[in-house]
Amino acid sequence: MVCGVGFRKVKSFKMTLYSPREDSEMLAHEVQKYAKGIVLDVGTGTGIQAVAAAASSKVKKVYAVDINSAAIAFCKKNFKSNKRIIYKVSDLFSVFKKNRIMFDTIVFNPPYLPADNESKDISVIGGKKGYETIERFLNEANDFLAKDGIILLLFSSLTNKQMVDEIIERNLFEKELLHSVHLFYETLFVYIIRKNSLAKALSELPVKNLKFLGKGKRKIVYTGVYKNKKVAVKALLAGKKATSVELESFFLKKLNKHKIGPKLLFSRTNFLIAEFVDGTFLKDFFQKASKQQLKWVLNEIFKQCFVMDKLRINKDEMHHPWKHVLIKGRKVTMIDFERCRHTMQPKNVTQFCQFVANQSDFLNKKGFHFNCSEIMFHAQEYKNNPSKENFDAIIKLLENGH
Ligand SMILES: C[S@@+](CC[C@H](N)C(=O)[O-])C[C@H]1O[C@@H](n2cnc3c(N)ncnc32)[C@H](O)[C@@H]1O
Repeated sequence: MVCGVGFRKVKSFKMTLYSPREDSEMLAHEVQKYAKGIVLDVGTGTGIQAVAAAASSKVKKVYAVDINSAAIAFCKKNFKSNKRIIYKVSDLFSVFKKNRIMFDTIVFNPPYLPADNESKDISVIGGKKGYETIERFLNEANDFLAKDGIILLLFSSLTNKQMVDEIIERNLFEKELLHSVHLFYETLFVYIIRKNSLAKALSELPVKNLKFLGKGKRKIVYTGVYKNKKVAVKALLAGKKATSVELESFFLKKLNKHKIGPKLLFSRTNFLIAEFVDGTFLKDFFQKASKQQLKWVLNEIFKQCFVMDKLRINKDEMHHPWKHVLIKGRKVTMIDFERCRHTMQPKNVTQFCQFVANQSDFLNKKGFHFNCSEIMFHAQEYKNNPSKENFDAIIKLLENGH
């Protein structure tokens, strides 16, 4: 894509008809090789990809869309005789939202350049950073791609390849580089993109509305709707050992029986679906809570720690539980059980005593006074003998805090 060449330098938003260039030819070559079944050419421009697809014997029908009505008018006029291609004006998939079609092949030579002050032409500018149109496209593509369907996507080194790769992964796709060409000042890439194994497994379940929530070292988390409930889907990242998800499912099953943790709804080796826990993290709750609320929340957490100790399950995070406890209304829910393990000497209560002792200055400022060394004394007693009596001594100390 030759930036700035072929269109006027204007500051306002505009659409020009994109005449085929190196990028178009490069993608059309892969379209001839890979296109199959029902094809969608997004951002068809002068129709080069749609025509290439329609020429293949593996292709049944081609839909070609463009946000620019002039592009659609151009194609309708010039390719009238090609009855296998249907043209529509559409912002990405919008025209198919009511009567959804699942495509076997989706082709996109997107606008992929970052915005500059020179041009606002949406046939080449993908957004401020360059990848925004690609991101919007990939966020929606799974809903229009058949289970074994493929996406042929072209982009440039000027688009931020790392970010494109990240967006592909977040959207439950896997990619393969089909071709790359180094031009004068950029490298062009063509990816073939497919649904990853998680997307395929989830497509067999009634999980809808998947939205990326976050990514850790081993896991990626989505929100979604499962059987009319808002859920969290936790999945293993490609190449990571399945143990962390399996362990979390295993311990959640056990702890759910004692009303601890988000309710586990479904699990497989590489992913789990659990009730979505809404609420305020302990860290933020602490800042806003009154003395009475703090007393209550500490008490609730201690009770759950004691149950886990009795079950000989160690969570191993209770000395820094800031992001591991959520509070909503009168409900306190611990989250993240992937580091849990069975042990004869669980430390949940004693770790939480340590946490509370560490917070004594803050709690004092909130008007919640208790004796720090007494807490640690009782924690030691409990460590030596984790009895109900020794646990109650800790709770009593907090209750008597004034
Ligand atoms: C780089 S050109 C590619 C044209 C043609 N497919 C080719 O390979 O030569 C990008 C095309 O995407 C279209 N486009 C940009 N944003 C779009 C959107 N949100 N929905 C549909 N088409 C879009 C532009 O109008 C333009 O025709």
